[in-house]
Amino acid sequence: MDIIKETGRRRTFGIISHPDAGKTTLTEKLLLYGGAIQVAGAVKNNKITRSATSDFMEIERQRGISVATSVMAFEYDDYRVNILDTPGHKDFAEDTYRTLSAVDSVILVIDSAKGVEEQTRRLMEVCRMRHTPVIVFVNKMDREGIDPFDLIDEIEKELDIAVSPFTWPIGRGKRFTGVYNFSERNIKLYSPEKTTRSDTIISCDGPDDPSLRNHIGEEASFRLKEETSLIDGYFEPFNLQLYREGYLAPLFFGSALYNFGVLELLETFLGIAPPPGETATEERIIQPSEKAMTGFIFKIHANLDPNHRDRIAFLRISSGLFERNKLYFHPRSGKKMRFSSPASFMANSKSIVEEAFPGDVIGLYDSGNFKIGDSVTEGETLNFKGIPSFSPEIIREVVNKDPFRTKQLDKGVRQLTDEGVAQLFIQQPGNKKIIGTVGELQFDVIRFRLEHEYNAKCTFSPLPYTRACWLTSTDPAELKTFIARKQTSIGYDKEDNPVFFAESEWMLKMNRETYPSITFHETNAFKRDQGYLESSGVSGKP
Ligand code: G4P
Repeated sequence: MDIIKETGRRRTFGIISHPDAGKTTLTEKLLLYGGAIQVAGAVKNNKITRSATSDFMEIERQRGISVATSVMAFEYDDYRVNILDTPGHKDFAEDTYRTLSAVDSVILVIDSAKGVEEQTRRLMEVCRMRHTPVIVFVNKMDREGIDPFDLIDEIEKELDIAVSPFTWPIGRGKRFTGVYNFSERNIKLYSPEKTTRSDTIISCDGPDDPSLRNHIGEEASFRLKEETSLIDGYFEPFNLQLYREGYLAPLFFGSALYNFGVLELLETFLGIAPPPGETATEERIIQPSEKAMTGFIFKIHANLDPNHRDRIAFLRISSGLFERNKLYFHPRSGKKMRFSSPASFMANSKSIVEEAFPGDVIGLYDSGNFKIGDSVTEGETLNFKGIPSFSPEIIREVVNKDPFRTKQLDKGVRQLTDEGVAQLFIQQPGNKKIIGTVGELQFDVIRFRLEHEYNAKCTFSPLPYTRACWLTSTDPAELKTFIARKQTSIGYDKEDNPVFFAESEWMLKMNRETYPSITFHETNAFKRDQGYLESSGVSGKP
């Protein structure tokens, strides 16, 4: 097998959006084009719905089903497309952030009526941090929406990214007639089709072509001429390098529900999106073409079914050829491992994978060995960078309700936090366990799972904190003093990095101002880059 050729034809990406913008609908339409599903609804049924927000069992049930959509692969032309699912539910934002570490690019879906929304902003922050190439799809053009120029302005300002329109809408809402395609110099007429593709294409000699009037009417053709001339004057031509570095986003307009503009999006995406590239580890940069297999775990999915306690760890291959039943190395434990049934999931079916290439994602059955961020190699010790934890917003202390089951509780809390359900911090004195999450739901999940999987009981006692920030300093002595002074607001993460719990944004700001040599990090991505622990000697170990 030719690894370079196989890697070159892979496109691994994620579709991200604020809930309800149309991510699931767009995913389905792409899968329909790729022949990966035959009917609309196959993905939709796996979606965690908004109505389930207060019922975590229902959400977990749906999450269980959604293993099926963790990675959706299909072949289109000569490409192998891997779409990594990102949960839209805000309480699972951490899952989404981690999934972004395993994609090579993203398609960002924006609702044309709502514009940039809260989750859009947060997700883009992560993309910017990683320089992930982004394509923007403005969806729901069949509805009345924001003026496209205003929308572009909003996207550029709020998401801090330049855009390059590839298509331009002709009208919107009830007057939506189609889109003008800048590079093809043609117009695609809109006809609402939910299942088949609509492709009435009118070639023209640019937006000035007088024949356009016959197709879209006098007024619309006049407007198109005016608007496109503004665009020509305002935007720089598309620059592939700037896109690939994450500074410039191609922009498309369409309607995922009515299957309009999706094919253009897919074909352009395949033409410009990057194939799997190099991966950074603390030790060295990995090239996909390297012979030895390397990969990292970015997501762990627990099975809530009491009869099947195994978990599925998702491995993104970074280099080399992965083979079923070959002996691999798990550097964190030093163990050798063999995977007899590595799986790929699709709609409601699952199949065993014999081999996988860089860019592919496979599910490995795991009985508790893996932790998010772990590497799998052929013998080399590698620590992958860029799978950060984010500053949690809800912070509570674990209160043990059954002292005879303390060991089980400890083990459960460790394992669940290894899975990435929440973050664990230890506070001294007394080895207090503090859990930090981005959503309420996780506390219900932890309590339920501790009880059912580890036979341990706990409650959570609220703490007055709303933020947790990792600490580093250019002045280790000052950091030591700070930690000693703020002892009751200090905890240590699993790797013994000190973390400061702040009661409010204001408190955080005050501390930042009072202690200028200390940096209060919002993610733990800084850690190893700065070799901080070694240099300061500050550690949580008693
Ligand atoms: P999400 O995954 O980003 O959360 O969004 P999803 O695709 O589920 O879409 C959210 C709602 O928006 C759905 O309606 C969907 O049908 C609708 N939608 C998606 N794309 C378009 C579009 O291009 N035009 C219009 N008009 N609507 C669109 P729903 O009522 O919540 O669900 P359903 O009953 O239609 O399934």
